[in-house]
Amino acid sequence: MADTTSCRICEGTVEEFFDFGRQPLSNAFVKPGEEKDEFFFRLAVGLCSDCRMVQLVEEVPRERMFNEDYPYLSSGSVLMKAHWEAVAQRFVDREDNRDDPFVVELGCNDGVMLETVAKAGVRHLGVEPSGGVADLAAGKGVLVRKDFFEEDVAASVRAEHGPADVVFAANTLCHIPYMGSILRGVRDLLAPKGVFVFEDPYLGDIMAKTSFDQIYDEHFYFFGAHSVRAMAALHGLELVDVERLPVHGGEVRYTLALAGALTPSAAVAALLAEEVEAGLTDLETLRGFGARVQRISDDLTALLTDLRDQGRRVVAYGATAKSATILNYSGIGPDLVEAVVDTTPAKQGRLTPGSHIPIVPAERFQDPYPDYALLFAWNHAEEIRGKEEGFRASGGRWITYVPEVRVTSD
Ligand code: SAM
Ligand code: TMP
Ligand code: ZN
Repeated sequence: MADTTSCRICEGTVEEFFDFGRQPLSNAFVKPGEEKDEFFFRLAVGLCSDCRMVQLVEEVPRERMFNEDYPYLSSGSVLMKAHWEAVAQRFVDREDNRDDPFVVELGCNDGVMLETVAKAGVRHLGVEPSGGVADLAAGKGVLVRKDFFEEDVAASVRAEHGPADVVFAANTLCHIPYMGSILRGVRDLLAPKGVFVFEDPYLGDIMAKTSFDQIYDEHFYFFGAHSVRAMAALHGLELVDVERLPVHGGEVRYTLALAGALTPSAAVAALLAEEVEAGLTDLETLRGFGARVQRISDDLTALLTDLRDQGRRVVAYGATAKSATILNYSGIGPDLVEAVVDTTPAKQGRLTPGSHIPIVPAERFQDPYPDYALLFAWNHAEEIRGKEEGFRASGGRWITYVPEVRVTSD
């Protein structure tokens, strides 16, 4: 019998379907010498038998993850910057014919999206608890409030700025276990025809691609149209649109409105039907995922062990939060992967959490090129392969592990 816990959305019964064991915080890159102070928790996922939300069974206190030292920078990818500009332009255009519109972003990080909104002269506010990245946003001319968004913060934002025409959140809502407080806050902040738009990794893509490394401390929920519709309905909101996105390995952009305010699009009914067809609301389908994860883990460990035994050099590319899950689940450490290259200054000179592989600046990749590169930032494959042509030309090979372990020379 699987363990059960209580659903953070509806208080129904959550049945566990996979346990990744003891894991560190995915973005807690360790200073050499401080390995003994690391925080660990049990990373396991389950499905609520009532609202169908897939969720973690253990919650990490939010201040441990989101604080002054939060190292992730949203503007670290050129292709994602173009994505954020397009999102911002959409809001600017949509609100163009309104009188003095107001756009709020939850988790604005370093301001990469709101910067465009600010430049267009549209009234806006970013709510961002991680102080270091919030300061970067402020430096770009973005108005930021350093806070965790929740019900009381929403009330004070409304009192100060008035109702919001758009509330946006990208790769942030799925990070927040206390969803009731968030959705009540959004509902009270929205103007009568306002919309809450959020984009997050899609459960359907995670299951279809076995992209299990999307499961880590910060990703508390794995949304689908069924679970989002259910959580919205609990708080006077309604799912009115869905749009599949290719970014970050496959996401969905959900649009919620006040219940009854807007007519749901045909895309909502279509995605709900697709999810039933794919068995995404069914515990048996989710259990099948575990066997595929184990196979990937075994194949990757066997490949890296063989390469080490043959004296080949393997370096990983991208000290992603995602990589914590595969490294710690599979027990991969510096004996199998000599270093991880990454462009983020706050990650360089540190060690990967739990697995303690040194992180070095991206320039070190070619100094000299390794024989194999393990692509942790697989969601940025196009951009990275494009700029690392020299690696391929040197005879280097890429290793990827989603949806299965592959070695390629292109
Ligand atoms: N929106 C950016 C993007 O898509 O690249 C940043 C995503 S980052 C993975 C998640 C962000 O959510 C972090 O900057 C974190 O500090 C912020 N965050 C966490 N809890 C929050 C909350 N309750 N309210 C607002 N932001 C929050
Ligand atoms: P993400 O998958 O959560 O967006 O994280 C991507 C990580 O990979 C982040 O630490 C930045 C790093 N990165 C590089 O080092 N080089 C690159 O070209 C890109 C796109 C990302
Ligand atoms: Zn539930």
